Amino acid sequence: MRKLTQTVTALAFAASAGLATAADVEVLHWWTSGGEAAALNVLKKDLEGQNIGWKDMPVAGGGGTQAMTVLRARVTSGNPPTAVQMLGFDITDWAKEDSLANLNALAKKEGWDSVVPEALQFFSKHKGQWVASPVNVHSTNWVWANKSVLDGLGIKPPQTWDELVAAMKKVKASGKVAVAHGGQAWQDATIFDAVVMSTGGPAFYKKAFIDLDPKALGSDTMKQAFDRMSVIRGYVDDNFSGRDWNLATAMVINGNAAFQFMGDWAKGEFLNAGKKPGRDFLCFRFPGTQRQVTFNSDQFAMFDQGGKVSQEQAALASAIMSPTFQSAFNVAKGSVPARVDVSDAAFDDCGKQGMKDLAAAAKSGNLFGSMAHGHANPASVKNAIYDVVTAHFNGEYDSSTAIEELVSAVEISR
Ligand code: GAL
Repeated sequence: MRKLTQTVTALAFAASAGLATAADVEVLHWWTSGGEAAALNVLKKDLEGQNIGWKDMPVAGGGGTQAMTVLRARVTSGNPPTAVQMLGFDITDWAKEDSLANLNALAKKEGWDSVVPEALQFFSKHKGQWVASPVNVHSTNWVWANKSVLDGLGIKPPQTWDELVAAMKKVKASGKVAVAHGGQAWQDATIFDAVVMSTGGPAFYKKAFIDLDPKALGSDTMKQAFDRMSVIRGYVDDNFSGRDWNLATAMVINGNAAFQFMGDWAKGEFLNAGKKPGRDFLCFRFPGTQRQVTFNSDQFAMFDQGGKVSQEQAALASAIMSPTFQSAFNVAKGSVPARVDVSDAAFDDCGKQGMKDLAAAAKSGNLFGSMAHGHANPASVKNAIYDVVTAHFNGEYDSSTAIEELVSAVEISR
């Protein structure tokens, strides 16, 4: 019944926009891991049920860096995809180029304004117009742990940096890998999100990553955060370079490694492998960031097809915003709904905690956009920070050099 209603709504919307015959919807995305693909399938099925064909345009590469390169090439050659998965300031950048379709009529009809939190609307809207529909809220400051590895070594989830270091030491001494990590710039930066928050606290995170205050970027606190990255570097295995994030998650799933510091898309991999939170794996906030949430939200932007929103685009946007879809999709993805009116009933304990943490952080002023995932700065600044963090992680810079480089890289990129 819901699908029928959606179809009718989408058709009515398309008709009122003076449109066009049904066609496939071409969706550019980077959801290629097992857990991500399982979640995406929920969306594909939803559209299939509305007789809308799905033309898949996957571009592998966590965090979406490669996908954004492909998108730029497609747009430059005059052949943009119908719909594109996008993060934060990338949406704003494309909206500024006047490339995105205006979804206002649909948003108004479906009342998006009253159910999508401000922090997400900041990215979904440009100059007051809806230009993207948010599918989820992820957060980056999580630890994923193998329960039996921890139990076997008598390790409790660490609550502080010192406890984390002690736990990593114990795991390494046992011959297992303490930290499963993939050496790719966005993964290094994902850990840095959490380490900076933990080291400097929320006011410092904001000054450094959101306000881009050179004093914060070049401070002793930032130097200490880099020192902590070096400590973590001592607990990854020798083969970490270039490893995809989901292969790192698999090391925790298989019990070869104890911890992964990663956004909650990692949970999708555990679930896809048939694992249960509390029984097989544990999720907890990165030590010292228990009250904070560094978030990113996957949104779908529709590329303007000559000033109109096509029927398929409207159907896709409408499907994404439906409360039942937001529940089903996010249960599989590891994220939490982008709508505030979706019940947590279908979610596991990690998902329930994610929803609670998000609401509490928003209320207490502890919710911040993730630097690593394009919600603190435009891509130019983000990439400049990536370069420094990765060079330091790989031993090219010591921490003193890293803060100097960070200040100048950010300055140049602005
Ligand atoms: C994030 C994205 C997530 C997940 C992750 C790894 O940027 O928001 O949905 O896909 O990358 O690919």
